[in-house]
Amino acid sequence: MVIAIDGPSGVGKTTITRRVAAILGIDYLDTGSTYRAATVAVLRSGVALTDRAAMLQAVRKCVIDYVDGTVLLDGEPIVEESRSEAVTRAVSPVSGDPAVRAHIVALQRAWVAKRNGNAVVEGRDIGTVVFPEATVKVFLTAVPEVRARRRAGDAETDAMSIEAIAADLERRDHADSTREVSPLRKAGDAVEIDTSAMGVEEVVAAVIDLVTGAQTPSKSSAPAAE
Ligand code: DC
Repeated sequence: MVIAIDGPSGVGKTTITRRVAAILGIDYLDTGSTYRAATVAVLRSGVALTDRAAMLQAVRKCVIDYVDGTVLLDGEPIVEESRSEAVTRAVSPVSGDPAVRAHIVALQRAWVAKRNGNAVVEGRDIGTVVFPEATVKVFLTAVPEVRARRRAGDAETDAMSIEAIAADLERRDHADSTREVSPLRKAGDAVEIDTSAMGVEEVVAAVIDLVTGAQTPSKSSAPAAE
């Protein structure tokens, strides 16, 4: 089964996704990392972010993989580079390109298929576009101050002030939710969880409950007794 965890930056998607996957004993995919890897490939190739054809060519030329929480570009772990400020700045134009997205979405689907369709997948468009048939769909939210504070603990925000982090979150939220292809939005059948006042384990338990509920046929859908 696919468990889709969507939501904006700083809501705790990665932490929740990892914990849920560990409890269920299945792999997890951080799709933001795949867009970050594509961005590293584009920046390394030196092509302009406005040159869509060249950008796509740079992304298609490389092999992006994700193994045990580590993103690989042509077999090389690039976790640190993929979280750099330069990549964080350039990831919106790269991930907003429809052709790049189509390529990366195909890669994400193949990654899950390789695991017999069992994975926890986090991102922005997992429940809406990548896996609209996901068994469980969760949309995590949190108020802006909480998100900026959570983000402050992440590697890529090391030297940034809370105000700068909040401004960056706002800029990326805007780019993610107003782009033409696969904008960030809650799927109609996703369960929204506002994590502002919740602890990690509380959110994890809520997601596990949804998984358990999806695995247990409800009385109304169970076949009638003979
Ligand atoms: O989750 P993150 O901040 O590492 O993601 C990096 C960027 O990738 C984010 O600004 C938006 C984009 N992204 C996307 O467009 N679609 C996804 N499914 C995941 C991330």
